[in-house]
Amino acid sequence: MSKKILIVAGDGIGPEVMGEVERVIAWYNDKRGFDADIENELVGGCCYDAHGVAVTDETVEKAKKADAVLLGAVGGPKWDNVPYEGRPEAGLLRLRKDLELFANLRPALCFSALADASSLKREIVEGLDIMIVRELTGGVYFGEPKEITDLGNGERRGVDTQVYTTGEIRRIAEVAFDLARKRDNRVMSVEKRNVMKSGVLWYEEVAKLHKEKFSDVTLENMLADNCAMQLVRNPKQFDVIVTDNLFGDVLSDIASMLTGSLGMLPSASLGAKDANGKACAMYEPVHGSAPDIAGTGAANPIASILSFAMALRYTFELGADADLLEKAVDTVLADGLRTGDIMQDGMKKVGTTEMGDAILAALDKLNG
Ligand code: IPM
Ligand code: MG
Repeated sequence: MSKKILIVAGDGIGPEVMGEVERVIAWYNDKRGFDADIENELVGGCCYDAHGVAVTDETVEKAKKADAVLLGAVGGPKWDNVPYEGRPEAGLLRLRKDLELFANLRPALCFSALADASSLKREIVEGLDIMIVRELTGGVYFGEPKEITDLGNGERRGVDTQVYTTGEIRRIAEVAFDLARKRDNRVMSVEKRNVMKSGVLWYEEVAKLHKEKFSDVTLENMLADNCAMQLVRNPKQFDVIVTDNLFGDVLSDIASMLTGSLGMLPSASLGAKDANGKACAMYEPVHGSAPDIAGTGAANPIASILSFAMALRYTFELGADADLLEKAVDTVLADGLRTGDIMQDGMKKVGTTEMGDAILAALDKLNG
């Protein structure tokens, strides 16, 4: 049975980088018997322009049925003034929520060829390998009430609600503990229990679950502000970091710069397995739509390509194929090819397509 992949390239540089991913998928179909069917749909600003919504019901249904959804990026200044419900990000958030993609895995890995592209010193980031596990369908992103009300006295009040249940905390912590067992067996749980009730609950529930099922894993706790500071002071102290939706959003942007560029960071958003063992999954680069360079052919396709590698690993359970793709990226970087965002003295500057060409050539070579 052929594999079903839904590509939603989105806005800005999304279509350019996803074009390279399509070529990589075609290579796997050709050379590794991957056998995937690709469909393309709109999400984000481009969907708003076509349909007046950031994602259509039909696309959400298709996404639920797909084995994997690959997303490029959404948003851009063009849609700054559309109604809040129709803004490009609403399409992405609806996909996350409707597919119940509660577990967002954001690895931050420093390729040694790029250690000098980081704004931090080489010795701080070289060899870095951390995994941020971000809760993705709860917290302040979705909590109700979420509104702006008129107080009638010339004042308005904006409210967002941070809310977590024990079940939501336990299932994301479980993912983190499971991942840690396959890595360095250490979990850092991050919240702000010094000011937030949801943080107190987070702390208590993670500790409880640890005692019940994962006492072989080392568990430590850190306040989110301290974690932000520790990530730039000594990032290699971390193995797996597990945290809520908003802290995870912020901390993963910090972590991305440790790796040289936001253009390098992939992510996987995974749902719970249903009765048949099928889980929804969406893979996307951590970077945004970069409207400033969209259409110029300068975007770095590596984060999107590495996101497809995560799909090979987590959805299709093809670990060796994922390793191969990661190795191909590594080879190209070691050969000195760089897109603008990771450019360094003495390296060869290339565009999106040339980077794709080089990765395909490296795949051919490694595949023998
Ligand atoms: C991310 C992005 C999104 C988020 C935006 C585009 C809604 O920043 O995936 O990190 O805040 O989750
Ligand atoms: Mg973000």
